[in-house]
Amino acid sequence: MGKDLSTYSDISEVVTKSIGLSLDVDFDALEVRGWTTLQLEILAKEEIREVVLDVKGLEIQQVVDDTLDNKLDFVLGEESKVIGRKLTILLSQATRAPDSLTISLQHKVKAENSPAIQFLEPHQTVGGQHPYFFTQCHAINARSIVPCQDTPAAKVTYTACINVKTPLKAVMSALAVPESAVFRGLGKRRPSSLAAGFHAFFFEQNIPICTYLLALAVGDLVSADIGPRSSVWCEPGVLRAAAEEFVGTEKFLTAAESLVGEYQWERYDLLILPPSFPHGGMENPCLTFVTPTLVVGDRSMVHVIAHEIAHSWFGNLLSIGNWEDVWLSEGFTVFLERKIIERVHGIDTKEMHSTSGRSELLLSVERSGKDHNITRLVPDLTADEDPDASFSTIAYEKGCLFLDYLEEKVGGPGVFEPFLKDYTQEYAMKTVSSALFQRYFEKRFGYIDGLDFDNCLKSPGLPFELANNPTPRLVIPALKVQQQITDYASAGKGELSEEDIAGWSVEQILFLLSALLASQSSASLLLDANATRELDRVYRFSSLKNGTCVNLWQLICISAGDSSVLDPVVEILRNHGRLRYVRPLYKCLYMSTIGRQLALDTYEASKAFYHPLTAKMVAMDLNLEI
Ligand code: BES
Ligand code: ZN
Repeated sequence: MGKDLSTYSDISEVVTKSIGLSLDVDFDALEVRGWTTLQLEILAKEEIREVVLDVKGLEIQQVVDDTLDNKLDFVLGEESKVIGRKLTILLSQATRAPDSLTISLQHKVKAENSPAIQFLEPHQTVGGQHPYFFTQCHAINARSIVPCQDTPAAKVTYTACINVKTPLKAVMSALAVPESAVFRGLGKRRPSSLAAGFHAFFFEQNIPICTYLLALAVGDLVSADIGPRSSVWCEPGVLRAAAEEFVGTEKFLTAAESLVGEYQWERYDLLILPPSFPHGGMENPCLTFVTPTLVVGDRSMVHVIAHEIAHSWFGNLLSIGNWEDVWLSEGFTVFLERKIIERVHGIDTKEMHSTSGRSELLLSVERSGKDHNITRLVPDLTADEDPDASFSTIAYEKGCLFLDYLEEKVGGPGVFEPFLKDYTQEYAMKTVSSALFQRYFEKRFGYIDGLDFDNCLKSPGLPFELANNPTPRLVIPALKVQQQITDYASAGKGELSEEDIAGWSVEQILFLLSALLASQSSASLLLDANATRELDRVYRFSSLKNGTCVNLWQLICISAGDSSVLDPVVEILRNHGRLRYVRPLYKCLYMSTIGRQLALDTYEASKAFYHPLTAKMVAMDLNLEI
């Protein structure tokens, strides 16, 4: 397996087996502090005298060898903007395989130094009464909360004791457990302030996970059951709507189980975050984190849940060892997500998703250039490069398309699905790599005429294509309306009527809007403000509830120079931090004739509200110094 270039640690010498956390989340000081206890297994054959960990933004107060009960010296290396600092712990005795070590570190981090955390003030929450806190560690941010070997190649179990002020509650990517279970993993460290007015929550994750899956949220949280093994967690004000939106969760879980085997994590809960959450969803084990923009009222965004559920196998159970192989997580996940959607919502819906995935892929390859390294399924990352920066549609959609292609090559789902299930069972709780998957595939199927596996993994652009790819049934009417709109815009001819889109699914509307936006961007269709107003009068796109539809429509209007859209756009930018919506809006405003200054002003007024990741990305998009 290739080395993970985003870590200072060397897991061939020493590897973390479990982590014990005892943390205070302090809303007054805006910091997270406490103790981390690492159970380390020594693999080095020759004697070693030091242990290297990753840290970023952390202050290390002391390091203790728990077995010998003595303090250890440590050295902090130079700060790298991307991967942080190397923390070298100097052992008091040389050690070698098969020894083990228990080391505890006392540390703290201020919010402003940690890209992994966001503290929200009460007014930034739904209820407006209590503050909120959440973490986001994917890809290399766990090191900004706890000192650790922050590489997906080191899979750890963890226990945690989280101390927060009442009446706030803490939730984690683990199972909630009674206190006694947790202290076993805490070493001698106890929460530092179990004072009156504070409350401790205890958690245990007994399946080894990658450190990017450590996750914690604290807020005024309540929960409701939505299935036999699922609850939704959120602020009280969104509980009913969220429980309604996600009632289908158990169906997704059972569909997934029929494809890839039993669900291993016991609970599958959802946490609905405040609007600044930067992602659509994050597959934190036992507790998926999702944006509140999924709570639409019509369940039209639940494929994100299918996606995060699929990660319970791909990424979480079968993990990658370094960020070049991220397609093994995201690509397999999209592939399974669409099979879940097919089983629960039918083939038409699945085909619409595949079609839009394909368009996104083509667009992404076109934008990056078909020879660009990042269009490779397995790109070459360099040291000190942020894995999140090379993260794109490629891993998701080229990854999924490759699996569609393999499925077609071996004879279809009847042959490929049992293979996928076997692969999943074989490597569950282990670390996989592209080479390993290739070997497993070739062992099962041998030589396949016309399939050049190496080339598929390594070539940029699109080195493979499906032979059998008919236009999906539901795309046909959407193409027809797209043509009508094009005719209307270019020659002012033809009638547009609300009947054109009557009875359409959200996926069809999305297809139409994406197609209009793509042709608007490539200048093959030029809608002006009169045209967008007429389209909106007829089709009422701006009153749609689905945020993705509204987002696409707003992008079309901005590029048409339609300033009537600016107020609602600013309203969204001031109150939402989901990257998928906010970044395209900022970029589009910035490039437009009507919104450049507005983009800069809105960013300035909103940046304090944004998550550090959103703030950083948007600043980049607007060519601002960060
Ligand atoms: N693992 C990702 C979220 C992520 C990506 C976090 C990159 C940090 C960096 C998650 O599973 C995901 O892919 N979410 C998507 C939704 C999905 C349906 C494609 C998202 O957030 O939009
Ligand atoms: Zn994903």
